[in-house]
Amino acid sequence: MTTNDCKLHIRTFFVAVLLILSASWRLYDEIIATKNNLRTIEPIRQYIHSPSYSRFTPPKNCLLTQQYPKHFVNYTAPFIPPSQWMEGEGDIYSGMWWQSIDSMMGTNYSKLGFLEAVSLKSFQNNERVIQTVDWLDLAVEHLSKYVKYFARFSSTEDVSTAVEDRVAELLEAYIKRTSCREDTISSSFQSAIPSTIAILPLRVTSLENQYDVRFLRLQLTATLASLWAAGFPRAVVVGVSHNESVVSKEAFGLLKAHLKTSFMELQYVQLDTNDLALVPKAALANFQKIIAVTKSSKDSRANNAEIADWLGNDNPSKWKYIYFTEPDLILHLRPEAIRSLSIELEKNHILNAHRLQPLPHMKQFSDIVGHVAFSHPKAASKFRNKVLPDQASFAALHPLDPSSGDVCCDQGKFYPSHLDDPTSPAKKGRNCWLWEFCGFLGNANASDWNAVVKRHNLLVLHPLLLLDRGTRIPLVHHGQRVCTPRRDGAVCLG
Ligand SMILES: *[C@@H]1O[C@H](CO)[C@@H](O)[C@H](O)[C@H]1NC(C)=O
Ligand SMILES: *[C@@H]1O[C@H](CO)[C@@H](O)[C@H](O)[C@H]1NC(C)=O
Ligand SMILES: *[C@@H]1O[C@H](CO)[C@@H](O)[C@H](O)[C@H]1NC(C)=O
Ligand SMILES: *[C@@H]1O[C@H](CO)[C@@H](O)[C@H](O)[C@H]1NC(C)=O
Repeated sequence: MTTNDCKLHIRTFFVAVLLILSASWRLYDEIIATKNNLRTIEPIRQYIHSPSYSRFTPPKNCLLTQQYPKHFVNYTAPFIPPSQWMEGEGDIYSGMWWQSIDSMMGTNYSKLGFLEAVSLKSFQNNERVIQTVDWLDLAVEHLSKYVKYFARFSSTEDVSTAVEDRVAELLEAYIKRTSCREDTISSSFQSAIPSTIAILPLRVTSLENQYDVRFLRLQLTATLASLWAAGFPRAVVVGVSHNESVVSKEAFGLLKAHLKTSFMELQYVQLDTNDLALVPKAALANFQKIIAVTKSSKDSRANNAEIADWLGNDNPSKWKYIYFTEPDLILHLRPEAIRSLSIELEKNHILNAHRLQPLPHMKQFSDIVGHVAFSHPKAASKFRNKVLPDQASFAALHPLDPSSGDVCCDQGKFYPSHLDDPTSPAKKGRNCWLWEFCGFLGNANASDWNAVVKRHNLLVLHPLLLLDRGTRIPLVHHGQRVCTPRRDGAVCLG
């Protein structure tokens, strides 16, 4: 080590210590402030056990893994029993599922009335739906709500543009980081991935809205990049008009560098349907029709071209599993869990990922807000009002990286609060649809700390996660579940 290196390390160390001290101080302040003013909200202390400052490694720019962490050799993933949802425990919707084609053929998708029904119908009274105990084994990061939140964000034009560009950069950076592929993933052990076909319904209602088109393209690209990184061999994007065909092909183009490293079949299929509002349903109903045709011996010759569009030019019966996903969900899959997931798929279980929701947070925008503070002070103060502050418990993010052996063990709907029964309160709502966003509604005074804590009284009960291999935007569980983030070489217990 050179003297300069050494100085750098010492300096880094002191900066870290200062950060910890200042964070603890702010936290202390905050707990005191909270205590005096809001009786039910004093949950923060026990959840600040491993804030971000404790690890010195800088974030990686490439998601390459050389070696699995030792404690994950021969890993068997534990699962949450399906009975938890059947007893009404939490929101099951994730926007995706992964199951065998045989199992999928058991649900009739041809008469569904709304978008989410594709998942809900598959899950209905179904004892075969499972989720992993460790969120990092199988999770998705849901993008579209975050993207929509920042559309036409400010009445000040240049602030809006800066914000739009920043959100695009966050997705582009994710896509870029995925581009170094872990080739060990699907080849090293029993894996359902090589025989899984991914189906992504897409709807683009207009090509004229620049913001929508830009982000539909980026979200689709990010979703496909996550599938590519996990080693999925084929993805079929299903649209219903020229509009989807344009956006799909642009997305495929953005993955050129990926495909050069490792090939994946990307196909766009266009349906001839009047059911423009329900592409997921139309896509699955059609997919079922194609599967039915390949399984019956007659007719197959006449439909060869259509079969090849959906299933590729190889043997169509090589597909055993289907991964269905909305085109705005980044997949997080722990490579060491694939063996267990594959065994469950083979047992006809339906895998449902944990749906993680990125939140508007100052961390992603502080430079923009700092800049705007001089030129448009009013816009800056409005801005502060619309994102979580990078302070106190909201600043104590839990960075997790499965390739370092980190885990996040599900605790169900256990609120880390000091309430008598932390599992009991249904925290949904104050007349708002998505609990994660309730606190962002309306106007508040961002300089009034008590007001900030009060409006975010739901979020303050949940540890904010930061997935190194995702967008790196702070996340919570859409189903209002809580997990214990751990980086101490432990694995989650079933
Ligand atoms: C993992 O499994 C293999 C094959 O069953 C075995 O040879 C090896 O000892 C196991 N390793 C550990 C660390 O348990
Ligand atoms: C699904 O239901 C519709 C009408 O309810 C029926 O016409 C169709 O044959 C069914 N499809 C399958 C694959 O069972
Ligand atoms: C495609 O986009 C155009 C505008 O760019 C719109 O007028 C048209 O209705 C869209 N088509 C469909 C089928 O949504
Ligand atoms: C916002 O809160 C701060 C601190 O409590 C206070 O000084 C300020 O006057 C408030 N602003 C408005 C517009 O209420």
